[in-house]
Amino acid sequence: MTDWQKHGTISGPIVMIGFGSIGRGTLPLIERHFDFDRSRFVVIDPVDADRGLLDERGLAYHQEAVTKENYRDLLTPLLTKGKGQGFCVNLSVDTSSVDIMRLCRELGVLYIDTVIEPWTGFYFDKTLGPDVRSNYALRETLLAEKRRVPGGTTAVSCCGANPGMVSWFVKQALLNVATDLGVKTGEPKTRAEWGQLMQATGVKGVHIAERDTQRAKQPKPMGVFVNTWSVEGFLSEGMQPAELGWGTHEKWMPENAGTHAKGCQAAIYLNQPGANTRVRSWCPTPGAQYGFLVTHNESISIADYFTVRNASHEAVYRPTCHYAYHPANDAVLSLHELFGQAGRMQETNKILTESEIADGIDELGVLLYGHDNNAYWYGSQLSVEETRRIAPYQNATGLQVTSAVLAGMVWALENPNEGIVEADEMDFKRCLDVQRPYLGPVVGVYTDWTPLQDRPGFFPEDIDTSDPWQFRNILVR
Ligand SMILES: NC(=O)c1ccc[n+]([C@@H]2O[C@H](COP(=O)([O-])OP(=O)(O)OC[C@H]3O[C@@H](n4cnc5c(N)ncnc54)[C@H](O)[C@@H]3O)[C@@H](O)[C@H]2O)c1
Repeated sequence: MTDWQKHGTISGPIVMIGFGSIGRGTLPLIERHFDFDRSRFVVIDPVDADRGLLDERGLAYHQEAVTKENYRDLLTPLLTKGKGQGFCVNLSVDTSSVDIMRLCRELGVLYIDTVIEPWTGFYFDKTLGPDVRSNYALRETLLAEKRRVPGGTTAVSCCGANPGMVSWFVKQALLNVATDLGVKTGEPKTRAEWGQLMQATGVKGVHIAERDTQRAKQPKPMGVFVNTWSVEGFLSEGMQPAELGWGTHEKWMPENAGTHAKGCQAAIYLNQPGANTRVRSWCPTPGAQYGFLVTHNESISIADYFTVRNASHEAVYRPTCHYAYHPANDAVLSLHELFGQAGRMQETNKILTESEIADGIDELGVLLYGHDNNAYWYGSQLSVEETRRIAPYQNATGLQVTSAVLAGMVWALENPNEGIVEADEMDFKRCLDVQRPYLGPVVGVYTDWTPLQDRPGFFPEDIDTSDPWQFRNILVR
């Protein structure tokens, strides 16, 4: 595959904030798929570990941290340099997505990120209660900005693999299940129609069900946190409370669950860190498996998007939605080590590059469960071997993210005046068309597994046999 399709022209400057594992992998995709003015491409990152990649291309690098104090003065001249419409690609940690997005929209500059990130300090601020440290609260700041300035220049929020691509998978998976069940409907055109289709199809919930089987060539040393993507990013979200979109079919709530007084009301949180919260789920390669219920934006946005309301605006249908993430084995060991020390973080972090990985795939998809065909997994099974062949500077996990950033950028260029959008609101077919060459096998598989399979075992368990798909049966207690 050498004849890469150009998807469009970025007429103004491109400012990439953050050049870590995702920034590094996104760069070659931008070069392949867009025409742009190389003299106005700049990367901003306080750490210059990979500046060689920029130097060898003659691309500008600005070594500085973007902060609450400097972001307007630092970014404005870069984003408005010369003619045309600029594009801000925010792939950093510790920078406020909503503040930077607001500035971009004031300047008429397109914007994309992969997470709603706060300014540094937020995730580990012990003075903030769990509800304030939640992704629900972060997403509400985005929704407030969207209400404050509706429409206008497009800013794409949370457009990586998950959050991001999985929202597009949910729609394709839902259409597949509806067709297989003979649910008669055209393709939904509005958000309300999508919710109605999910309700009519009988889907009770959605797991973002992931198994990362990528194995390091070197065994994990003690005292090092090893992962296949940002350790910092994973620890930040992993130490937030576990959060899940809360479905209308649920009959039981954990004792330590919290609800929110304000906002969309689509989600609850648990008073425990997501990276130490296990759930039962299913992926094609391992079959049944434990995953971590790490909080993610899409758990809330998908549950919110597919909510069906009556005339009094009460939610009459909503799917449960949450992450069930089995990261790479070394990351599981790293978490075990960390929580064994009461959450004290290792002093050394390691993100495995494609050359440090022996083999494996990142199997990332959505499991739509509770309908008459039981459960359906739809997703990408991208291997590290294929990744090495098709895109430089990244492993399989990275390419699923960077290709979603590419798809989001294409969509924003083609739809420059849509205001602030979440992945759920974008044209899922167009985005998946752009992304598919980078996803390896994309498959849909039915399973007869339920979280009650082979239970109870040797010991009595608190389970609800009347409905296998209750969260009561899914949460490991
Ligand atoms: N949606 C998804 O699917 C998805 C997947 C992976 C990562 N992400 C997110 O993407 C972001 C980047 O992930 P990554 O794996 O590249 O992380 P990384 O840790 O490899 O890189 C982050 C980069 O940001 C830089 N940085 C830190 N503070 C900065 C600041 N104030 N200003 C500018 N740059 C700063 C760091 O020096 C680093 O190079 C994270 O927020 C992560 O949560 C999203």
